[in-house]
Amino acid sequence: MDHSNYVIDEMISAKAIAARVETLAKDISAYFADTDKLVVIGLLRGSFMFIADLVRELDLPCEIDFLEASSYGNSTESSREVRILKDIRGEIEGRDVLLVEDIIDTGYTMKQVTEMLRTRNPKRMKICALLDKPSRREVDITADWTGFEIPDKFVVGYGIDYAQRNRNLDHIGAVRFVGD
Ligand code: IMP
Ligand code: MG
Repeated sequence: MDHSNYVIDEMISAKAIAARVETLAKDISAYFADTDKLVVIGLLRGSFMFIADLVRELDLPCEIDFLEASSYGNSTESSREVRILKDIRGEIEGRDVLLVEDIIDTGYTMKQVTEMLRTRNPKRMKICALLDKPSRREVDITADWTGFEIPDKFVVGYGIDYAQRNRNLDHIGAVRFVGD
């Protein structure tokens, strides 16, 4: 099949995302209400739009940091080997931490990132994922807050890419390959 030819079918509208981000932020703000400062860590690059919207709705003092783990490259399949390409800048020992991810798919990325960060002894560390594909899970990991559960489809938009394209869409769409 020629994978350069595809169309994008809208799955979650910009309006639905905004409404969900608002309720997620309320829940997260309530959970961390007693924090002195929350370290919000976005996993690059897919979470950049989500974290930007989420932190604007958080009613908490926060610090923003970023971490980059190796991704799919140009494929639609997980490599299952996760490497840290860019570490966070700040210290998290004794701190409250929120990890913000675009999608939890097989779970390898989140599992390995949380295991690595836990060795630094944060006080509390929680996970917020915009999307979850539970039917694809291969390792035992669940987000503490999930925006939307979605079926096993390759999605793009709202920060999420296919071969570095379509991150700038304001909604989430499913990729559908079309033959010539
Ligand atoms: P996991 O390690 O298999 O859970 O994969 C997590 C990462 O794979 C996510 O952070 C995304 O970057 C990427 N990913 C998973 N599913 C999709 C998708 O449908 N579209 C684009 N990227 C995806
Ligand atoms: Mg990612």
